[in-house]
Amino acid sequence: MPFDRPERLAVLPPYLFIDIDRKKRAAIAAGKDVIDFGVGDPDRPTPKFIIDRMAQAIYDAKNHKYPFDTGVPEFRLVAAAFFKKRFGVTLDPQKEIIALIGSKEGLGHLPLAVINPGKVGLIPTPGYPVYNAATIFAGGVPYEMPLSEQNGFLPDLAAIPADVLDRTALMFVNYPNNPTGAVAPLDFYERCVHLAKKHDFIICSDAPYTETYFDENDRPHSIMEVPGAMDVAIEMHSLSKTFNMTGWRVAFAVGHPEVLASLAKVKGNMDSGVFGAIQHAAITAMEGIDRPEVAEIRRIYKERRDALVPMLNKYGFATELPRATFFVWSKCPEGYGSMECASKLLEEAAIVAIPGIGFGKAADKYVRFALTVEKERIAAAQSRLAGIKW
Ligand SMILES: Cc1ncc(COP(=O)(O)O)c(C=O)c1O
Repeated sequence: MPFDRPERLAVLPPYLFIDIDRKKRAAIAAGKDVIDFGVGDPDRPTPKFIIDRMAQAIYDAKNHKYPFDTGVPEFRLVAAAFFKKRFGVTLDPQKEIIALIGSKEGLGHLPLAVINPGKVGLIPTPGYPVYNAATIFAGGVPYEMPLSEQNGFLPDLAAIPADVLDRTALMFVNYPNNPTGAVAPLDFYERCVHLAKKHDFIICSDAPYTETYFDENDRPHSIMEVPGAMDVAIEMHSLSKTFNMTGWRVAFAVGHPEVLASLAKVKGNMDSGVFGAIQHAAITAMEGIDRPEVAEIRRIYKERRDALVPMLNKYGFATELPRATFFVWSKCPEGYGSMECASKLLEEAAIVAIPGIGFGKAADKYVRFALTVEKERIAAAQSRLAGIKW
C-alpha cells in the first residue's frame, strides 16, 4: 500500500547537514584523519559525582515506577534554589517549575500547549530547527526573525509587522545562542516582555547554554530577571550542556504557571515524565553547580576557544570570541557560500564544520565550529587551515 506522508512532515525544510555528513563518512571510510568540529555534543563524560548518585538511585525500587510527571518535589525545589542563587529570581516550585525530558522535548511540545492553528510562531533564524518544526506540527505559522551581525545577532523587534504581532501566539528566543554564540543583554529581554504584553503573546526563552560562559563577571541573564516576565514568559533550562549530560535527557521549564500547566497537560498525554533515578542524579548535579568539576567543563571550552578563534581569523574566517556556548560562528572567506566553504574544508583539510545554511537562509555566509574537540586536535587543524587556498 502506498504511504502518504502527512503534509506536516512534507513541509519541513530538508535536512541540510546531510550532504556534509555523507562527505564526512566518505572521508573517514577513505582513511582520512577527520577533525570533527561539527558535533554539538560534549565530548567529555558526565562528572563522576553525578554518575555515582545515579548508580545508587537506580537500585531504589521507588524509581522503577512511573515517575512524577512534572518532576519529583525535590527536583523542583533544587531547581528553584539554583534559580534563586544564580538569577536572583524566586520561583514557586509547585507551579512555576516542571521537569522535562530534555529541553528539546519541552520545545517540541510547547506549541501544542500555546498555539491555536493558524496563529503565528516567531522563530529566530538561524536557529535550532525544533522551533520551526514544532510550530508547524501544532498547525501554527512560522514567521522568521533574522539574526544579523549588525544587530548583535538579536532579532530586530521593530521590524516585525504589526499585523504579524497581532496574530502571534508564541515567540522563541534563544540566548546564549546556537549557532551564533551571541548573548542577550537584559534590556533585550525587557523589550521582548514589553512587546509580548502589548500584543498578548507568550515568550519561550530557550536557555540551555546559560552556564556555558567564559567569564565569571559576564554570566548570561535569564529573561525571568525582568520584572513582569512571569506574566508572559517561560524559560527552558537544561542539564545537557552544563554537566555533560546530553544523553540523560533531563531539563526543566520555569515561568508562567498557566502555560506550564498547559504544557504539562500536553506532556501528560504524550509521555510519563523523566525516569526517577535520572531526576535524583539531576538533583545532585544541580546541587553541585559550584563544584570544581563543573567549572572545569567551562575552563576546557575556554581553552579550546582561545586556541581556535585566533587561528580561524588568521586563515580567512572573520570570527568574534563568543562569550558563551561552545560554538564558534565564523564568516566564510570572501566569495564563499556556507555549503561550498564547508565542503572545501572537508575535502582539502579533512575538517568538519557545519554550514550556516542548515540553520536557515539568513546564515549562508557562516560556518559553525563546535568546541567539542580536544586542544591537541585543534592544534593539528592549524597546518591544515594554513594549506587551503581560498
Ligand atoms: C538551542 C538549543 N536548544 C535546545 C537544545 C536541546 O537540548 P536538550 O539536550 O536539553 O534537549 C539544544 C541542543 O543542542 C540547543 O542547541
